[in-house]
Amino acid sequence: MTHARVGVIGTGWWATQAHIPSLKTYEKADLVGLADSNPDKLAKAASFYEIENTYINYHDLLENVQGVIIAVPHVFHYEIARDALDSGVHVLVEKPMALTAAHAWDLVKRAEANAVELMVGTTFQFTDHARRIRDIVQSGGIGDLLHVSGLFASMVESFLRSNPEAYRTIFDYSVTPPSSNTYSDPNIAGGGQGQTQLSHAMGMVFWVTGCRAIETFAYMGNFDLEVDLVDAISYRLDNGALGTMEASGSVHIGQPENQEFRYYGTEGQIRQDVIHGRSDVHYNNGDAECFKNLAKEDIYRVDLPARVLVDLILGEGENLASGVAAARCVEFLEASYKSAQIGRAIRL
Ligand SMILES: NC(=O)c1ccc[n+]([C@@H]2O[C@H](COP(=O)([O-])OP(=O)(O)OC[C@H]3O[C@@H](n4cnc5c(N)ncnc54)[C@H](O)[C@@H]3O)[C@@H](O)[C@H]2O)c1
Repeated sequence: MTHARVGVIGTGWWATQAHIPSLKTYEKADLVGLADSNPDKLAKAASFYEIENTYINYHDLLENVQGVIIAVPHVFHYEIARDALDSGVHVLVEKPMALTAAHAWDLVKRAEANAVELMVGTTFQFTDHARRIRDIVQSGGIGDLLHVSGLFASMVESFLRSNPEAYRTIFDYSVTPPSSNTYSDPNIAGGGQGQTQLSHAMGMVFWVTGCRAIETFAYMGNFDLEVDLVDAISYRLDNGALGTMEASGSVHIGQPENQEFRYYGTEGQIRQDVIHGRSDVHYNNGDAECFKNLAKEDIYRVDLPARVLVDLILGEGENLASGVAAARCVEFLEASYKSAQIGRAIRL
């Protein structure tokens, strides 16, 4: 088998910006069709990328593919991923994988039962730096993990305010912008900065550490929005390490985004600045290693998740964003939202 037959469900902003062009230009991918419940969005994407087969009902697409990419609003992730996995189809579902821990672990179980891959669109994990840092942490390279610190400040406030048009000059809406309610309606998005951005940031923490959270205490600020704009969270991992994560979606156009992690162990520390592609390791014996800075175009490889899915279908490569790490993130986020709501720590 030299080609994988894949389809895309959800033909909104991210699918048309990242996944469809990636598959169209990947020699190992056969992009056999698109599905979207909105006929206008479907027709626009199909015509822009010259794709013949389109489906209003995603079940019809599932019959014809080996793998599928699901890029629909958060609340629909679970149901579509579940149906795909149960059809024996390999899945790349966008982040957050699901909105409840029960749904997230159910997807992990179904992927195992059907012997198919389950990947999640946590794009920062697809770099050489992220892989090396994961390997150092999980092989005990910095000793026993004591503390993980994270800051994720990003430009999403206008999405959370139902105004994606504000970012037209920054993000590429060459086919379509996000629907105005995708990120701002709590019933659709499940939350704001937490669901849309901490799914990336804490996804990285669970993937790098290989841990689960056992306790979390969160403050979340909605201010005048319907969803959270700022999150400040303290947590405890199952290996005993303590963590903090701060996240703000309020970065304005033209201002720097700050997205970085620190891992402190008994034998050393790692600094991972994902948005600038800079990382280094400092060991207690005085040794230090500064990774070669990532080239600008390698910092956020939006084309790679789709291509790694194709490779996995062909029996090649590694699942760099597994369902297990993503499910650990979903259970953490669900508990953190609950903690913020009731004002006390939650044990998972
Ligand atoms: N990994 C990343 O960096 C990244 C970046 C942006 C968005 N995303 C994720 O991608 C997903 C989609 O975001 P978007 O900005 O493209 O949203 P969008 O609003 O632009 O598109 C969503 C599409 O899904 C379709 N849809 C809704 N319900 C459906 C259903 N039941 N069946 C089929 N189609 C359905 C809509 O009609 C729409 O075309 C979200 O989960 C988001 O978090 C990830």
